[in-house]
Amino acid sequence: MSTHRELARKHLVPHFTPKAAWHSDSLPVIERGEGCYLYDVDGNEYLDGLAGLFCVNIGHGRPDLSAAAAKQMDTLSYSTNWGFAHPPSIEAATMIAGFAPGDLSETFFVSSGSEAVESAIKFARNYHLARGDESRYKVISRNWAYHGTTLGALSVTGIPKFRDPYLPILWDGTRHVPNTRQCTSPDGTPVAELSCVQAVEETILAEGPETVSMVIAEPIQNGGGALVPPDGYWQELRRICDRYGVLLVADEVICSFGRFGHWFASERNGVVPDMITFAKGVTSAYQPLGGMVIRGPLVDEVFDSSIGSYVHGSTFGGHPVATAVAVANMTAMSDEGVMQHVLDTEDYFTDQLRAMGEAHACVREVRGTGFFYAVDLCADSDTNRDLSTTQEAGLRGGVLGGMVREERMTVRPDDRGYTGLSISPPLVADRAVIDDLVARVDRVADRVDTWLTGND
Ligand SMILES: Cc1ncc(COP(=O)(O)O)c(C=O)c1O
Repeated sequence: MSTHRELARKHLVPHFTPKAAWHSDSLPVIERGEGCYLYDVDGNEYLDGLAGLFCVNIGHGRPDLSAAAAKQMDTLSYSTNWGFAHPPSIEAATMIAGFAPGDLSETFFVSSGSEAVESAIKFARNYHLARGDESRYKVISRNWAYHGTTLGALSVTGIPKFRDPYLPILWDGTRHVPNTRQCTSPDGTPVAELSCVQAVEETILAEGPETVSMVIAEPIQNGGGALVPPDGYWQELRRICDRYGVLLVADEVICSFGRFGHWFASERNGVVPDMITFAKGVTSAYQPLGGMVIRGPLVDEVFDSSIGSYVHGSTFGGHPVATAVAVANMTAMSDEGVMQHVLDTEDYFTDQLRAMGEAHACVREVRGTGFFYAVDLCADSDTNRDLSTTQEAGLRGGVLGGMVREERMTVRPDDRGYTGLSISPPLVADRAVIDDLVARVDRVADRVDTWLTGND
């Protein structure tokens, strides 16, 4: 076993990883990345089918981004956004204002997606207080939605296995409603009458609109497997929120910075939310940075109220090196036409994945769009037979993960609301990379077909 693995076992606590996997002799120790591929300490190559964790949007190994970081460290390694400002955070916020839809013009920076969600919860509360709406504090979010792991963000997250262990210390202001896959309405129902839309309004009414602060949702929800909403869904959320004085927050920690061919997916949805949370792709993960961009008039109301400021902050929020890298990343994405590449390639990507899925009894559906997909597994797609409890437990318990690892790719075996694979490569993946990725997924699906036959 390599020294790296031994030392990891002894000294490094993993995130969301059981002991058996962490202590396994085959734990990959990744040391280098280039474009859409990763290399481990044993010299193996992996296809990064998840862009790290939905974040290395521009691909690995970009010297322009590391040069921007080094230059900023030489110039000003640290200063705050607390009573002071510095050029890189001003420049990054200005660029984001230029990309964001409508009058979303002011950015508050933090260091992660969870903190971005916490910041939105707190800003909404500050905003309502500034208007004298003191009873508004509740948040409506959707089942199976992942919004992060810090206690506020985890309270809003709708994934039981992440929340349940912490329930006694979670904030109880969240109400969860069905996601777009849990709509019970028959096909052809007008969007305003869909059960998953009506549930939002009914929940606001049941709680008392005067107590509800915000609704938070991802434009395309990851938990549950790349849930693309029906046309008009976001317009309905906007209408409902406006009707009851509730703020609408688009959590675009995954969806922004090109995953769907736009700087912000809200633009694709044609709706201007009150806040957009982001992280991950803003720096293509070359530095930890998150934030939220807020409609300018809302910030003015807070500043001009008796509260006078947004009562929130952190040491590293808007860090000069992180924001300098964000500027370099956004500049490169813009100069290199990354948005257009995603728009030009998404149909090819979808077609290849769907054709792969149709060839397998185990693939119920390929959902998604842009550079973001879920391969939903079942026992038999011809009869739409679900996995048996034993099959589901086996696949989720390591069988699927083992097959993916043996294909040397980083797509995610997923058990959050479905059993399947979550796919989201770097946005610079060309047709050759997509073909390579689909071929590896195809081989995994072959193996799942065979495994299901032997494990009824
Ligand atoms: C939609 C969404 N919100 C929030 C988060 C939390 O981000 P982080 O892991 O940077 O705290 C994630 C992470 O994947 C996410 O997908």
